[in-house]
Amino acid sequence: MNFAFAPGTSPTLLLLHGTGGNESDLLPVGRLLRPGAALLSPRGEVLENGMPRFFRRLAPGVFDEEDLIRRTGDLAAFIGEQSSLHPLGKIIAVGYSNGANIAASLMLLRPGFLSGAVLFRAMVPLEPPDLPDLDGLPVLLLVGRTDTMIPPESAGRLAAILTQAGANLTLEWREGGHELSTDDFLIARDWLRNNFGESPAP
Ligand code: MLT
Repeated sequence: MNFAFAPGTSPTLLLLHGTGGNESDLLPVGRLLRPGAALLSPRGEVLENGMPRFFRRLAPGVFDEEDLIRRTGDLAAFIGEQSSLHPLGKIIAVGYSNGANIAASLMLLRPGFLSGAVLFRAMVPLEPPDLPDLDGLPVLLLVGRTDTMIPPESAGRLAAILTQAGANLTLEWREGGHELSTDDFLIARDWLRNNFGESPAP
């Protein structure tokens, strides 16, 4: 797996890009959200018309579930491997779109890998057969009211699943669509501070 790693303090931010992105995309976002934190940023290994993704889809918003389950396992293995090489401490996912969807899948299928998650423009990746016990896991979900890629009902359903699983969910309905604005980042930065303490290097 191609990835970028920037050493820093724990919690580490696991940066998961959107479709067509790469491991460099979210590094500036990570630095803005939590200056001084370690950043671990893998590149999705699926190519859709040359665009990296974290799992295959059959059509926009229609996911290849078998592939998603397999890739979620690969991501968990990657995190485990990196944790044995570097002192990553707690890991908080920060994902956008396709990256946010695999972060949600990781929480639902492999609870315990993440200590929190910021999900920018996520939807239900899959309906898990059994709900995991997320036991107060802090999750921030930022939804665009006019997002044409992420049906707001699906984002709402994801919020319901995470809440039912016991996550401590903060749901932010944002004016606007799939794109992110500075306000999204500022909300995420403050949420991280409130849930994980002051950033080590302001
Ligand atoms: C996906 O995972 O396919 C997202 O919902 C949309 C995208 O990343 O383009």
